[in-house]
Amino acid sequence: MENKLVSSWWKNVQSLPESYKFPLDQRPIVPLKDSSPIIDLTTHENGGYGQPAILEQIIKASQDFGYFQVINHGISEILLEETIGVLKEFFNMPAEEKAKYCTGDPNSKCKLYTSSYNYQNEDKHCWRDTLAHHCHPLQDYLPFWPEKPTHYREVISAYSIETRKLITKILDVISEGLGLEKGYFGGELSKVQMLSANYYPPCPDPNLALGMHSHCDPNLLTILLQDSHVYGLQIFKDGKWIAVEPIPNAFVVIIGCQLQIISNDRLKSVVHRAVTNSKETRICVGNFVIPSSDCHIEPASDLVKNTTNIPAYKPYQYKEFLHTYAINHGDFEAVLQSYKL
Ligand code: OGA
Ligand code: NI
Repeated sequence: MENKLVSSWWKNVQSLPESYKFPLDQRPIVPLKDSSPIIDLTTHENGGYGQPAILEQIIKASQDFGYFQVINHGISEILLEETIGVLKEFFNMPAEEKAKYCTGDPNSKCKLYTSSYNYQNEDKHCWRDTLAHHCHPLQDYLPFWPEKPTHYREVISAYSIETRKLITKILDVISEGLGLEKGYFGGELSKVQMLSANYYPPCPDPNLALGMHSHCDPNLLTILLQDSHVYGLQIFKDGKWIAVEPIPNAFVVIIGCQLQIISNDRLKSVVHRAVTNSKETRICVGNFVIPSSDCHIEPASDLVKNTTNIPAYKPYQYKEFLHTYAINHGDFEAVLQSYKL
């Protein structure tokens, strides 16, 4: 796998290899301009994120779009720059250095792979490499993280702690907005946190390639940090692809499938993908909040307790959902349909 990493060979090719050329119906088309909600999280004294304006905006965006961007979220710009910087350094290391993390072992605690977990069996490959590892609780996973670049662990620890705080605050607002008890999404529903950093080098033919297939996020909630000015993330809304504007220092918040199900369809998950470009490398750092694999999931009982609100989904364990997600290749409609009542 190590010599397959696109970060290690893209400079040596002039044209896109055949195995990266997607069929016509999957190729990127010119997307629409972004009109996604941008929510300013600046908190005023005594306000907190629960203040009505922020709460209403978050709930409305989660209902209407399934994603939104947050600005003024309180995480220092220096830390965000260092995070993108250290990940760029990681992917720019010599192939031999990166090889240590390309074990191919699905149980490995730190994975570096190219295109997707399914590289061996897929028809076409995606133009990206991904570094993925757990990051909560930190002390359990830190020993498995890359040792190089030398400041990787220090920067990504600080980043993981700060993003977890932000995610917890956003989840608290969502539980309040849905009328659920405070801390509803704490505990098993958000026990696991993973960092998954995607590296998309310049691509010789962005019109034929994809960086990441169209998918929905199977987890509870995702936040993405994008490179400050490089386009690549697209959202599928009302039958059309929309290019998400990269806003410096903002996070893109994506409602995962579990939030749609627990909210009994009040909040919507969103289908998205990544495209490439021919000029600039793009990094997108995902932080995924994930239920524990044994976690029991169903629409929140407070949201389905009267005859006008009957449960739309049957109960399941999160690991069953992940299995269904894998066999349906992340196809949003197919996966949710499997749990519909
Ligand atoms: C993801 C994802 C988007 C991107 O990692 O699930 O949607 O632009 N990433 O890398
Ligand atoms: Ni995603």
